[in-house]
Amino acid sequence: MKDAGYELAVFPGDGTGPEVVREGLKVLSALSEGGPAPWKATEYSGGGQYYLQRGKEWEPEAEAAAHRADAILVGAVGWPGAVLPNGDLAGRALVLGLREKLDLYANVRPCRLYPGVTHRISGAYRDVWAPENVDLVIVRENTEGLYTPARGRLARGGETEVAIDTRVITRRGTDRIVRYAYGLARVRPTGAPEDRVRRVTCVDKSNVLEGCRFFRETFDRVGQEFPDIERDYAYVDAFTQWLVRNPEHYSVVVSSNMMGDIITDLAAVLQGGMGFASGGNIGNDHAMFEPVHGSSPKHAGKDRVNPFATFFAIEQMLRWLGDRHGDRRLTAQADRLERAIARTLKDGSAKTYDQGGTTSTSAAGDRVAAVVRSEGR
Ligand code: IPM
Ligand code: MN
Repeated sequence: MKDAGYELAVFPGDGTGPEVVREGLKVLSALSEGGPAPWKATEYSGGGQYYLQRGKEWEPEAEAAAHRADAILVGAVGWPGAVLPNGDLAGRALVLGLREKLDLYANVRPCRLYPGVTHRISGAYRDVWAPENVDLVIVRENTEGLYTPARGRLARGGETEVAIDTRVITRRGTDRIVRYAYGLARVRPTGAPEDRVRRVTCVDKSNVLEGCRFFRETFDRVGQEFPDIERDYAYVDAFTQWLVRNPEHYSVVVSSNMMGDIITDLAAVLQGGMGFASGGNIGNDHAMFEPVHGSSPKHAGKDRVNPFATFFAIEQMLRWLGDRHGDRRLTAQADRLERAIARTLKDGSAKTYDQGGTTSTSAAGDRVAAVVRSEGR
């Protein structure tokens, strides 16, 4: 526990990032009204738009602050035309760079459907899944796999002949991610909605890929240490159908980096869309939290996008800090924020355009902040 308060390094980033982060900080402040806040949030610049203006993704001080912070919150990075000389996304340093440098090996994407949230399938607003059937967490390996920076082109004579990405699956990387998944299955309040069984599903393509065979072997080996957790398996292609058809079967899902990237966005549809999807990038000593929707340039500056993903990212951040430091103050704030979010979603008083409503980003922030105040401590 840190009496002096936890340092939060906040990177609003590009496009709609600053709009949702502003509302997030509004709600965060509401949690500490009437008493000293157990954290101190400091904002830093950086990202693709910063790169276009200054020729660098961020300042060395900002990067140092991210390395020093107790937790990091990122809005979004990426902007049309903001590309590094090597072709990479400008702003990658804030997300992919921190994942690599701070060794944030677990990408943790909760997927829960709250009562009051509607889905959008084929353009229609429908209630396809019952809220009680969607309550899972996808744990994605976040530092290796196809994202390993061992890639390149062969361009003899100037024209590209071959482009290569190398998929690296290591014992250490796999061991720690599956261990994280089992550990999470153990501490979650309950198991899968279908039968309450504490289950971890390994999603891979081990019928074809060697790396996936090794991933699954490691999943089985480490699983011996968790006899109380059921081991479950799915090939990634089949998993995409089952997840949509029977979300209630899943509680914790673990996968390698690229497959995890794809299935987490699919899962976001089950929770009402990307406007509700938050992600934690968690390592042993550092963690970064983000709404995962990206900078949405076409909506930027319109006070229109859904800020709930950022509220969930903040809830995840407070909970992680509380667990890591054994600090009840933070856990209590996370619980209170979650109650306020759930209440607001249920009464439908802050439906943004993606939910078929007309509430603005800032009005949604005002509403959740007001509910936080009325929830009491
Ligand atoms: C995510 C995002 C990132 C990824 C992008 C922005 C590089 O899609 O966090 O899921 O591919 O990991
Ligand atoms: Mn993604």
